[in-house]
Amino acid sequence: MKKIDLSSLNIRGIKESDLDSIVEIEEMNLGVRRRSYWERELQKNKEGRFLGSRIAELDGKVVGFVLGDIGSREFGMPENMGWVHTIGVHPDYQHQGIAMTLFEEYKRRFMELDVDIIYTIVSLSDTMQLPFFEKMGFRPGNRVYLELDLTKEPPKSDKVTDFDLRRIL
Ligand SMILES: CC(C)(COP(=O)(O)OP(=O)(O)OC[C@H]1O[C@@H](n2cnc3c(N)ncnc32)[C@H](O)[C@@H]1OP(=O)(O)O)[C@@H](O)C(=O)NCCC(=O)NCCS
Repeated sequence: MKKIDLSSLNIRGIKESDLDSIVEIEEMNLGVRRRSYWERELQKNKEGRFLGSRIAELDGKVVGFVLGDIGSREFGMPENMGWVHTIGVHPDYQHQGIAMTLFEEYKRRFMELDVDIIYTIVSLSDTMQLPFFEKMGFRPGNRVYLELDLTKEPPKSDKVTDFDLRRIL
């Protein structure tokens, strides 16, 4: 691990030229290389989609990023909502407060933009991001994340609601 001085961290807006650094950090963390995906994603930045997204730089080197956007009252949700799509820190620089610094800045920006609630989706088996988001104050919300696996037969049991029951009553 490379020891850093957090006060020398430069937090700035995201640019198209950050593409290679983002691709490399993700590859180091997840073992997947998704250059064309990130190329397309960064295009959205031009449309102002990634409001508040931030890059952490140390001596000119990108060491972390947080990406997300704002969806005002989407999906029938009553709040002005912010999303964190992804957060990543270079493995050599983790556990030194970089993600926390990035997130604090992100949160500050969202508050300026009148966001009420920030959402994110993390796998229950993600032993890195889950404790991080918990430390940042995230808790399970009162909406449920649903998925339908299109490669399988729709399930006939394991219901998630008591809707039929209430209709009968
Ligand atoms: C999750 C992640 C962003 C955290 O970055 P970081 O810079 O190491 O986090 P910080 O040092 O700011 O941690 C802040 C707090 O979060 C918690 N935390 C962070 N990582 C943790 C871990 N792996 N296990 C347990 N708690 C953790 C700690 O409580 C920490 O506070 P503390 O050090 O005072 O105890 C980083 O581990 C990462 O990038 N992981 C890969 C995530 C990923 O797959 N992203 C998508 C592709 S890049």
